[in-house]
Amino acid sequence: MTDLDPGAGARHLPVLVAEVLDVLRPAPGAVFVDTTLGAGGHARLLAQRVQPGGRLIALDRDPAMIELARPRLEGLPVTVVHANFDRLGEVLDEHGLGRVDGVLADLGVCSDQLDQADRGLSFSQDGPLDMRLDLDSGEPASALLRRLSERDLADLFWRYGEERFSRRIARRIVEQRRRTPIKTTGQLAELVRRCVPRGRPGGHRGIDPATRVFQALRIAVNDELGALDRLLAQLPGRVRAGGRVALISFHSLEDRRVKHALRQREVWDDLTHKPVQAGDEEVRRNPRARSAKLRAARRKDDDTAPPAGARLTEEEQG
Ligand SMILES: C[S@@+](CC[C@H](N)C(=O)[O-])C[C@H]1O[C@@H](n2cnc3c(N)ncnc32)[C@H](O)[C@@H]1O
Repeated sequence: MTDLDPGAGARHLPVLVAEVLDVLRPAPGAVFVDTTLGAGGHARLLAQRVQPGGRLIALDRDPAMIELARPRLEGLPVTVVHANFDRLGEVLDEHGLGRVDGVLADLGVCSDQLDQADRGLSFSQDGPLDMRLDLDSGEPASALLRRLSERDLADLFWRYGEERFSRRIARRIVEQRRRTPIKTTGQLAELVRRCVPRGRPGGHRGIDPATRVFQALRIAVNDELGALDRLLAQLPGRVRAGGRVALISFHSLEDRRVKHALRQREVWDDLTHKPVQAGDEEVRRNPRARSAKLRAARRKDDDTAPPAGARLTEEEQG
């Protein structure tokens, strides 16, 4: 297995790998957190570079991704935790860690999650309309479509999907659910496609008309923006002076939040004046990289907290 192969059974390719390593600078003895383990691509590279003496704490809210990533992390100093990244502080406390040397967040979902029809995340495969990344938390998308009023549905598609036909789609959903509940991704994708003029001015050229509605529902079902806000709020108190953070977002709602949080000049020195994006070569290999935006910052040197590595027990140092 090369460092960039997705590894046993996984398909997801990590994005902006060289750029992430360049801004985070993982070094022997350091303690890093990968808040979005996914298929373990970035995690493996970080964990290799913090040895000897360092450790990577890797979080994911999807237990299936944790199992997929495990073989890739064998023999490396990694502590894997099933948790939403909005619990970063609690997780670090549970492991006796105060502030860490670096944090990575590669937001959104993995190709492997989109590929599993039974997760209901993809409009290109028919499956139950679920979309929860953690089946123990929140309600499935089908329940939201049943419960929300026409107005709330329209707001949701507009706010989280910037879908300009949001009202028309919401109206059609309410009409349809009076007759029969919308339970599958195929039913919803077809309904949306019937509402949106294709290839005409104002229509969706190039992308499937269902794209924005699926994105909006996934964000709402998993409270993705709320979780991101809570993570961003914890970073200043959990990264040591001189430590580094890197966040990769895939749509403007995420990127706006990241940009705003890292703009706190009394806390962060900007490492990426403009967001870093993938080059043509990477986009050709991995089309998903096209919309990735990396922002990074360095925690200012104005506090005296000891580095997290100083508090690792011998056992934890592995
Ligand atoms: C784009 S993938 C990460 C890919 C990973 N960097 C790699 O190299 O394979 C995003 C991952 O973050 C997880 N995730 C999304 N939101 C999360 C949250 N709030 N807390 C923890 N994990 C989350 C998803 O389940 C998914 O596995």
